[in-house]
Amino acid sequence: MDRSKKINRLLGLSQDSVFRKLFRIINFVLELIFVRLYNKFSQNSGDIPAQFHSLYYSSPERTWKNTRWLGRRTMKCPLDLWIYQEILHELRPDTVIETGVNEGGGAAFLVSIMDSIGKGKLIAVDIELLEGRPIHERITYIKGSSTEEKVVQQISHMLKDSKVVLVILDSDHNKPHVLKEMEIYSKFVTCESYMIVEDSNINGHPVMPNWGEGPFEAIEKFLNNNDCFEIDKKCEKYYMTFNPNGYLKKIR
Ligand SMILES: C[S@@+](CC[C@H](N)C(=O)[O-])C[C@H]1O[C@@H](n2cnc3c(N)ncnc32)[C@H](O)[C@@H]1O
Repeated sequence: MDRSKKINRLLGLSQDSVFRKLFRIINFVLELIFVRLYNKFSQNSGDIPAQFHSLYYSSPERTWKNTRWLGRRTMKCPLDLWIYQEILHELRPDTVIETGVNEGGGAAFLVSIMDSIGKGKLIAVDIELLEGRPIHERITYIKGSSTEEKVVQQISHMLKDSKVVLVILDSDHNKPHVLKEMEIYSKFVTCESYMIVEDSNINGHPVMPNWGEGPFEAIEKFLNNNDCFEIDKKCEKYYMTFNPNGYLKKIR
């Protein structure tokens, strides 16, 4: 066998396709250069994620109301769920608290990841616990408002032995409620872990511009008076997130 045939076999290429492959590589490099130049010089390029976000959000029956984890509906964006998976794998929390359960798709996702890494418990709080929600040995449900004194006391008691605690706030998305939740639950978050404030994309960030003040504005207010947390923009690496500025890392 001559040398070029050997190389082709090694690279998994048929002899005929070598030139085509070369052409593709050159094409790919040119495309990369073109996209970068376009992004640099086009005034509209910054809007592409916002445009896609609006398209995605404005077709709920197709997208965010039709997203399932192992058959259970969750209203989270798959790009955010992937980030949650990365955070859980990295931090290996003893306890995750999620406020707002609904049908429990988010809860089901979180305990699936915990099962995979072999660690973690979920405390899930909602004013209404729906029948058919996931039942799992890692999940403890608490019925009540996330800001109710009795509920907070119960959670505080359950966290006694937890060294790493992560919080996800996904209940009532009005600014006063989110801000109150942030003030209460920020104390449960352990250093280097996160308080994730969901759905800060509403009220024009960039969707639902007429919604009124919500999670995004609550985050702004909270951070004005709190220097223990900082926004971790790395968690927004996929360009679209339902939680812009909402991944808050506890730094001290
Ligand atoms: C967006 S859904 C939660 C979605 C869920 N986390 C998921 O991933 O699929 C919001 C939920 O918050 C609950 N909720 C509203 N106000 C609340 C409050 N004050 N305390 C706790 N839960 C509340 C609602 O009953 C509803 O089930």
